[in-house]
Amino acid sequence: MDPIQLFVPTFRIEETLEQIRECLEKGWTGLGFKTVEFEEAWKQYTGLPYAHYLNSATAGLHLAVRLLKEKFAWQDGDEIITTPLTFVSTNHAILYERLTPIFADVDESLCLDPASICQRITPRTRAVMFVGLGGNTGRLSEVVDLCHEYNLRLILDASHMSGTRWADGRHVGNEADISIFSFQAVKNLPTADSGMICCQDAEMDADARKWAWLGINKDTYSRTLSQGTYKWMYDVEFEGFKYHGNSIMAAMGLVSLKYLDQDNTYRRQLAEWYDEGLAEEPRILRVPMSPDCVPSRHLYQVRVAHRDEVMVALNQANIFPGMHYRDNTLYRMYESGRDICPRAHAASDQIISLPMHMRLTAEQVHYVAAQLKQIVNQLGK
Ligand SMILES: Cc1ncc(COP(=O)(O)O)c(C=O)c1O
Repeated sequence: MDPIQLFVPTFRIEETLEQIRECLEKGWTGLGFKTVEFEEAWKQYTGLPYAHYLNSATAGLHLAVRLLKEKFAWQDGDEIITTPLTFVSTNHAILYERLTPIFADVDESLCLDPASICQRITPRTRAVMFVGLGGNTGRLSEVVDLCHEYNLRLILDASHMSGTRWADGRHVGNEADISIFSFQAVKNLPTADSGMICCQDAEMDADARKWAWLGINKDTYSRTLSQGTYKWMYDVEFEGFKYHGNSIMAAMGLVSLKYLDQDNTYRRQLAEWYDEGLAEEPRILRVPMSPDCVPSRHLYQVRVAHRDEVMVALNQANIFPGMHYRDNTLYRMYESGRDICPRAHAASDQIISLPMHMRLTAEQVHYVAAQLKQIVNQLGK
């Protein structure tokens, strides 16, 4: 039997090569052309008003903090409330701008708990960074209300949320000041590496574009399209970064986007098969999805005792799950936040992300579920 991996990206190879061929034939692989087409397609798909294509979600998270810091005149050392259960990009972004990440605890969805956020608010709190873990909205609606009440900005790390919709059909993203999506290879909308920053107003979107292109006020593609002489003329307004996306990645993204809803439907089917296979097993706790949303199902997470032994035993059964994520306060650089988020800490010792990708079959999911049940029961005795 082939190993059953956590993630295996699936690309529609011929269609993707056709899109890439267009870039090569035109002689345009950088910023512009397909990146513009992809931004338009993403806005159309999500209903979000603005979208700027970047080389990663990490870049987008940094830009989001940068843009809000500038717009609202935040000072160094001001605080952003964030989660310890995330990929470190989320929290590094806060540090890049010399702000302070303040860790709040999670609830059973493994997303930020509004009550814990409330307890962390101080006069220096400026924003909340909410991560939709695994594509889940958790209690995001309550966090939105809380941000309004306390006049805090909301950044949505929607890296796992491509295709997550509210129960009424709206795509997530509009409820945050800025939302950021990841199109890295193992995400629901795979490219090789790229992401999207979605702002709520034209000015911020324009600033995001300048910050992502070294502070230059006119990108090369717009200059190529513009008329007359002085096409080469631009100004540099500040020391921006080189964070923009390119046309080859956008070409991949355009094809993946076409299949996103179909793929997410299959992910939810896989989740149902797991639910069936793991039902009535009290030793395996399934991380609940919020009833508020139709999730992208980037992850299928369970909690078990003796997690590390369970992982080893699964590997022996040719199953290679993952873990999202280790409590960030266990890392040396975030240790100042240690011991204040007991639920996140406990979860970090128990969570397993079961295999979740397009090539999995019902038979494989049932095999994983059966093996997991057997292992957990043996270890639990
Ligand atoms: C929650 C979360 N935030 C941010 C990122 C960073 O995304 P990227 O790899 O596109 O920079 C990831 C990627 O794994 C993630 O899972």
